[in-house]
Amino acid sequence: MDIRRLEPRDLPLIQHANLENLPENYFMKYYLYHALSWPQLSYVAVDVSRPPRTPYDYPKIVGYVLAKMEEEPSDGVPHGHITSLSVMRTHRRLGIAEKLMRQSQLAMVETFGARYVSLHVRVSNRAAIHLYTKTLGFDQEKTETKYYADGEDAFCMRLDLTPIRDQIPDQNGDDAAEEAGEDEGEPVGDAGKAEGGGLPSRPKEQLRKVKVGRALGVQGLVEKDESKHS
Ligand code: ACO
Repeated sequence: MDIRRLEPRDLPLIQHANLENLPENYFMKYYLYHALSWPQLSYVAVDVSRPPRTPYDYPKIVGYVLAKMEEEPSDGVPHGHITSLSVMRTHRRLGIAEKLMRQSQLAMVETFGARYVSLHVRVSNRAAIHLYTKTLGFDQEKTETKYYADGEDAFCMRLDLTPIRDQIPDQNGDDAAEEAGEDEGEPVGDAGKAEGGGLPSRPKEQLRKVKVGRALGVQGLVEKDESKHS
């Protein structure tokens, strides 16, 4: 079994696996949005025991985790969110979901400095609840009534990513430097030449915040409108 990053060419297979395994389904645009916006966070499990025989054969994807960073976190804390996770019936109880989740959590910390990861799960989904709480250590925060389109409630869960942050030496150092407003290093390119007495330095660019993603109406890409919940 190979666990690797999701690639855009995998998306039809992911959508197929999602339709097979879960009632929460999404438009292809929503998968693409994840793959293009946070390519580091979503992973697939590929059965490599029977490799494709021609370049046109699809890889055999038996599990996936589709994840993202919360774009406008209401608490102001950068955190990840698991949009969807599933493993094909033929490949369950082999530790695939656990590996996919751990890989995504690590990437959330390494790439985006996430402090925690959140998710929703159906209150009746015993296998997933067991995976999240007993194997991965998620806390059950609250219950959202009638979260799902069929009226079922959801448990909102959260996992503190501090233990992962602590294992990455650079993570805390970078944060401290960032908070202290320190620069990342020596100037390079034109700016570097100017420092050395060469070309005059360019005036500092004015940076301004622009809205992306949901703020531009991405909620329209979700078959089940989750926007009011997350
Ligand atoms: N019953 C009880 N505990 C279970 C079960 C089960 N059927 N399946 C997994 N677990 C728990 C166990 O603690 C297990 O550890 P163990 O095997 O050492 O006892 C642990 O989870 C790890 O199991 P994995 O083998 O990593 O899980 P698997 O690869 O089988 O995938 C999953 C679990 C994703 C829940 C799978 O059953 C599935 O795809 N179900 C349908 C789709 C689904 O419910 N997805 C989650 C929806 S919530 C969301 O997407 C945010």
